[in-house]
Amino acid sequence: MVGNALSRTRRQVGMGISAILGFGLVWAATPGLPILWAPRASAEVRARGGELFEHEWQVEDPIAKGDGLGPVFNGKSCVACHFQGGVGGGGASQHNVVSFELLPTKERPELKGGLIHAFAVENRFTEKLGTLRSLFPVIPGSVRVEGNCQVLVHDFDPVRTSSVNSTALFGAGWIDRLSGKTIYQLGLRKSIAKISNEVVGEFGGIIPGRPRVLPDGRIGKFGWKAQFASLEDFVAAACANEIGLGNPKMPQATPIGISYPEVPADLDRSQFRDLVAFVDTLERPIEVLPDDSRQLAVVTQGKALFAKVGCVSCHTPEIGGLEGVYSDFLLHRLDDRTNGGDGYSTRSTPQVPLPDAFPLPEEWKTPPLWGVADSAPYFHDGHSTTLESAIVRHRGDAEPVYDLYKQLSPQEQQAMIAFLKTLRAPAEAKPSSAPASFAQAR
Ligand code: HEC
Ligand code: HEC
Repeated sequence: MVGNALSRTRRQVGMGISAILGFGLVWAATPGLPILWAPRASAEVRARGGELFEHEWQVEDPIAKGDGLGPVFNGKSCVACHFQGGVGGGGASQHNVVSFELLPTKERPELKGGLIHAFAVENRFTEKLGTLRSLFPVIPGSVRVEGNCQVLVHDFDPVRTSSVNSTALFGAGWIDRLSGKTIYQLGLRKSIAKISNEVVGEFGGIIPGRPRVLPDGRIGKFGWKAQFASLEDFVAAACANEIGLGNPKMPQATPIGISYPEVPADLDRSQFRDLVAFVDTLERPIEVLPDDSRQLAVVTQGKALFAKVGCVSCHTPEIGGLEGVYSDFLLHRLDDRTNGGDGYSTRSTPQVPLPDAFPLPEEWKTPPLWGVADSAPYFHDGHSTTLESAIVRHRGDAEPVYDLYKQLSPQEQQAMIAFLKTLRAPAEAKPSSAPASFAQAR
């Protein structure tokens, strides 16, 4: 009797395990759900959210529930950095933001990051790279003896900074609805294709890239490093870090190395919801085709060449039903290995290896190219003022594609640029009063 019960239990457990494995396999093999619903919000909510997006915040602002602007900040309004091609667009390089990463060390094994803010409401709060460096100094190298060998350990600088350009937010709600699984699967498919090519002896070709898996398991989609999985999370961080607005999801940034009193959140739940809804429902960028038939032929040729040379392998035209976004949302390394670039670092530093999921300093997410004609300057650092200068920076993982691009005739290269210039900010975007000097170099 007991034996029978035991074997029945075993059978049931076995069936349970097979069911779980089977389900896992089916899950892995099925694509993520396509986007089913367009972002929506009522006209009143959008209007209220839009006002908050354009509001110029001040210290002790009457509409803030806390201390208003600051104590540290990079801009006084969202629109100050997001205005090109209309309210919600990208910004010029003078609006770049300096972010930093503190690489792990033996004494401080966790990875940290933040922003070095450009402004503070009081002089004593002003943040400087020097402050960060004095708090986290270079760890001097040494000579270690291992057996009979002397091993030279180089100096280790735990502080990494990068200056990043503000991105356009048009269509952000659509990207928010893109399932992380779809991105994950695209990465998987590209890796399998690469391996199959190598099995039949075809080496070279494009390096597949990898999804950014965040500590909570979600796939990152927003930011140059794909550091956020949801639009709401990014908006919360933008309020807290760029303007110093505490909100229901994140406390405001406080000056590095200084204790600042705790104050109530600046935005209450409904203000925060309205602001998120406004960004969520910014229209998506559009493709504006020329009326002139000769120009149209050039643009069509450029689009075909964009596919033919392989730009589409990273700037995927469609993903998860999101037509015309031109991104795979995967991380790639584009810097020039021969020239050094930012330096190809390895994951194992002299101190503590970086977690595998964490991007290397030179890894960046493929930016969506929709609306690209209205979002100069280009690249994470905003150092490329024109589309041409952005394309010629494609080395590293994009080298094979760049080589093919270089082989195109000048007329063909121009046709490709003409195609990229059809990718415009949405016609519905509210015009912004951007200073003339911020007009992009097109
Ligand atoms: C000082 C300039 C500045 C201000 C002010 C600013 N941003 Fe940004 N924004 C940036 C930069 C720079 C990035 C790119 C950051 C990155 O990827 O690391 C960015 C990126 C974003 C993104 C991610 C877009 C994407 O697709 O990856 C969102 C969403 C966003 N900002 C919303 C806002 C909102 C909402 C506000 C106002 C509360 C705001 N920003 C204020 C500079 C700014
Ligand atoms: C291996 C993947 C890959 C390939 C192939 C690739 N790109 Fe990119 N592209 C990227 C990444 C990643 C960035 C952002 C790099 C950075 O900011 O450091 C980028 C940036 C850009 C930008 C600037 C966008 C912006 O908003 O700043 C343009 C324009 C662009 N690529 C066009 C092209 C064209 C045209 C081709 C084909 C000749 C191409 N790319 C091929 C990955 C790729």
